[in-house]
Amino acid sequence: MPKVKFLPHGREVEVDVGTPVIRAALLAGVHINASCGGNGICGKCRVKIEKGSVKGGISEKLSKEDIDEGYRLACLSEVLEDLDVRVPIESEIDESVLNIQASPRKRAAIKQIDLIDFKEKDMFLPPVEKRYLELPPPTHEDNSADVTRLVNFLKLKHNEHRLEVDFSVIKKIARVLRESDFKVTATLARSVREDGKTRILNVQPGDTTNRNFAIAVDIGTTTIYGQVLDLNSGDVLAEYGDFNAQMSYGEDVINRIVYAEKGNGLEELNQAVLRTINKVIGKIMKKSGVSHDEISTITLAGNTTMTHLFLKLDPRHIRRAPYVPTCTLYPPLNARELGLEVGEHVIALLFPSVSSYVGGDIVAGIMGSLVYKESELTLYVDIGTNAEIVIGNKDWMACAACSAGPAFEGGGMKFGVRAEKGAIEDFSIDPVTLEPMVFTIGNKKPIGICGSGLITTVATLFEVGVIDNRGKFNRDLNTPRIRQKDGIWEYVLCWADESGIDRDITLQEPDIDNLIRAKGAIYSGCMTLLKEVGLSISDLDRIIIAGGFGSYIDLEKAITIGLLPEMDTSKITYLGNGSLLGAKMSSLNNQIRRDVVEVVKKMTNFELSETPSYMDNYVASLFLPHTDLNLFPKVSERIKETRQILGQIREK
Ligand code: FES
Repeated sequence: MPKVKFLPHGREVEVDVGTPVIRAALLAGVHINASCGGNGICGKCRVKIEKGSVKGGISEKLSKEDIDEGYRLACLSEVLEDLDVRVPIESEIDESVLNIQASPRKRAAIKQIDLIDFKEKDMFLPPVEKRYLELPPPTHEDNSADVTRLVNFLKLKHNEHRLEVDFSVIKKIARVLRESDFKVTATLARSVREDGKTRILNVQPGDTTNRNFAIAVDIGTTTIYGQVLDLNSGDVLAEYGDFNAQMSYGEDVINRIVYAEKGNGLEELNQAVLRTINKVIGKIMKKSGVSHDEISTITLAGNTTMTHLFLKLDPRHIRRAPYVPTCTLYPPLNARELGLEVGEHVIALLFPSVSSYVGGDIVAGIMGSLVYKESELTLYVDIGTNAEIVIGNKDWMACAACSAGPAFEGGGMKFGVRAEKGAIEDFSIDPVTLEPMVFTIGNKKPIGICGSGLITTVATLFEVGVIDNRGKFNRDLNTPRIRQKDGIWEYVLCWADESGIDRDITLQEPDIDNLIRAKGAIYSGCMTLLKEVGLSISDLDRIIIAGGFGSYIDLEKAITIGLLPEMDTSKITYLGNGSLLGAKMSSLNNQIRRDVVEVVKKMTNFELSETPSYMDNYVASLFLPHTDLNLFPKVSERIKETRQILGQIREK
């Protein structure tokens, strides 16, 4: 890998060929002013390439003389080989400042259990298969019914027994057989029970065995994601996510339940979630070129409330002690009858829940990450609007849930967005000028800030004293970026002329308050559950973080704000959207669907709201990083040193 050295102070980092120079600077802990998201608009990221060559980097923002002298825009330049890069602004900064700038970044290792593992482990066993059949046409000697002809042929020629036929097949079989000269493809869905019957889901004219698809959906409280899966290859053909339209009825599950209890509320919420799911389905079908008739199953995972609202089940008892859901195990259902815009043959499979607040999304994550098969003692945390926590391994599991609010998914913030193109996902600051370096997903003009960007931004502003441990801005700092507008204090991440929305993009104090409440709920939930099972952080073999953070989470920053405990970061891995992963994996492996019922039985639920120490832990967590700094000794030492150096520099 090429080495990039940043001058004048000589910080070095190894990066892949093709890495933008500005990303290399971030990884090396070198600040370069950049507020347009690395989009080539602001022209602030000028650097001089003194040794080696880069691809690109030339822009109208640079004069001919600049270009001749080797100046390039760092955001538009890609590393090709070893480089010496001079950062002009750094040459003016006191060396002691450079020393307190971000140390080289350590990203969480991404542990994404994907199809390669499936195939290696011989786990590619889709629950839905197709069979091409050339049936003998009826004669006077054999005038058995069309359905009987189909079933008998499958028994005789394909050794398929214990078959049952869906009514949607019965309705169309006469036409399909005759239109296709009795050459048809039957879609067979295996039972989730070992001894259960195989359903004939669909019958299509001709040979369509190479067109067999499924849909996986994560019904999140804030966002809904869907994927189209190829059941022949296991590939994901398309993915799309959107905010859950129920957001306008309340941001968390409690507000949604309250709304569902009023008048026509349940119907409205059901229609809202269906609208979003159908929009997501429409987008992924179009993107993948798959038609409605080619989809066989749709697997959905959501928390218990989301699943109730999707099925239009009364959720009112979920929020009242002793917190009773209507149902935790859901039978296979006809997707069209539920309101999903798919073929009438499609079956909908819903992940089972454990309790009112540990739902199918967390169960899907446990299945998708294979925690349920392994012996390592794992803390699994799904960070979303509802944070769910599981501790255990293949032998036992304890679980709990808490409400974190939508901050981690980009909701509830003035400029919050999902992890999509243009979302600010990373941030660094010049500790003296307080000018930012912002990075967006896809290097597009900034449109807002997503969950991972929020964590990094708040942690970084806290490190350099722009915000205090209560999350309030330091009113004494001299920069136009910290200001009070309409009575609210804020920091300007991106000026209007550099943003993708023609408005200043800011981080406001209420956004930080939301983040502090959210991280406090999760941290105290983990600590309370660990204590309930007689364990502490040091007993854990690993932590798996799941959730809609976009492509990564900066673990050091997550520890800095007190979201995660201070521990060896090599033990923490990031999973991504565990709920979607579980829905995908069970669409590709019938054994996972069979195992899930046993796994759910193994999960012992703890109600945090009934656990007296939870509220004490929560209140103590409402600071950055925590009221008890003994829990975060390294963070507090680092912050103390940084503040001392900065205090001296700012006094000069
Ligand atoms: S021009 Fe490079 S970050 Fe703005």
